Amino acid sequence: DVSPMPGDPILALMAAYREDDSPNKVDLGVGVYQDDDGNTPVLRAVAHAEQRLLESQTTKSYVGIAGFEDFNGQMQAMLFGERHAALADRRVTTVQTAGGSGGLRVAGELIASLRPDATIWVTTPTWANHTPLLGSTGLELKSVRYYDTATGELDADGLIEDVANIPEGDVLLLHGCCHNPTGADLTPELWQALTEICVRNRLLPFVDTAYQGFADGLEQDAAGVRYMAEHVPEMLAVNSCSKNFGLYRERTGALCALASSETDARAVRTHLMKITRSMISMPPDHGARIVATILGDAQLKSVWLDELGAMRDRMAQQRRDFVSALEAYGLADRFGFVARQTGMFSLLGIDREVIDRLRDEWHVYIVGSSRINVAGLTASKVAYIAEALAATIAA
Ligand code: LMR
Repeated sequence: DVSPMPGDPILALMAAYREDDSPNKVDLGVGVYQDDDGNTPVLRAVAHAEQRLLESQTTKSYVGIAGFEDFNGQMQAMLFGERHAALADRRVTTVQTAGGSGGLRVAGELIASLRPDATIWVTTPTWANHTPLLGSTGLELKSVRYYDTATGELDADGLIEDVANIPEGDVLLLHGCCHNPTGADLTPELWQALTEICVRNRLLPFVDTAYQGFADGLEQDAAGVRYMAEHVPEMLAVNSCSKNFGLYRERTGALCALASSETDARAVRTHLMKITRSMISMPPDHGARIVATILGDAQLKSVWLDELGAMRDRMAQQRRDFVSALEAYGLADRFGFVARQTGMFSLLGIDREVIDRLRDEWHVYIVGSSRINVAGLTASKVAYIAEALAATIAA
């Protein structure tokens, strides 16, 4: 006696877009990078690495619960920086996870087992899947103010006030960069202020970094999490290779736990391994092996960094082109924040009725929260999208 469940809003939109046979259709939905032709290419560095693996790999036997250790080391260095004091002190332990989402879930299970009464505080808004992913652990989720849809800017005062009121021992979930869905990131001053509050009020920071390299640069995008890791005694941090390596379907990510001592880090690791074993036994290997091959080879790494930079620069240009295209309709000021924000997303702040009409009448697909994926604002479509937006807003 099973009744059907509603579909995931982001993935359901992806399916609806695929079924639309209009030649005008535009995908501004799911957070997947696309080129000018609407394709999500395999990066050149990835193709080279896969070729090497094909030629050199001699077994597909199990690797282990924590995944591939070379990869784990590279992921913690990518997030924290190779010379970070916490790494030198061996206070960070890292396990490979099934994508960033897998890392979030393992971290959630860790919190639920060690501190079942803790609440996870998320930003308003946050990634739509944070709630089911973390809520499924049984933990309670509550929210802090973060973004002002009317101005397209951070609500810095609201955020600080709300975080200052979080009870001791609770968890604060932040986005390392490229905030999903708003595109509005924490400033260095806000990272500092939040770090102070976390230390003073004994909150556990939990940082989700799914888009490292898509905002200002690989190193720059980790500045906030690195600063925080220098000052807090404990922290959880997840990073993903879905977007920056284009490895979406390979489910490649890592969870780093920063503990107050090396002994504690070792103890936490045993919990992470027990949780992983009970959930998926072991993470998938192929994506991690690709990333380790790229990051372990100076030439391949440089090819990858160029490709990452090209994706970043293109999305920044498309943000500017979108706002320019809106000038003709007197909407450049209203949506000017899109050009000031970074990463893959912005939140247009338009009504649900406008979003529905964009889809039904213009075949332009936007997530129900009014989030757009700026990678879809391609050169050949941007004028059409601006026209569609102007027409539906005016109607
Ligand atoms: C998104 O936010 O669109 C991406 O992170 C993809 C997803 O799984 O939701």
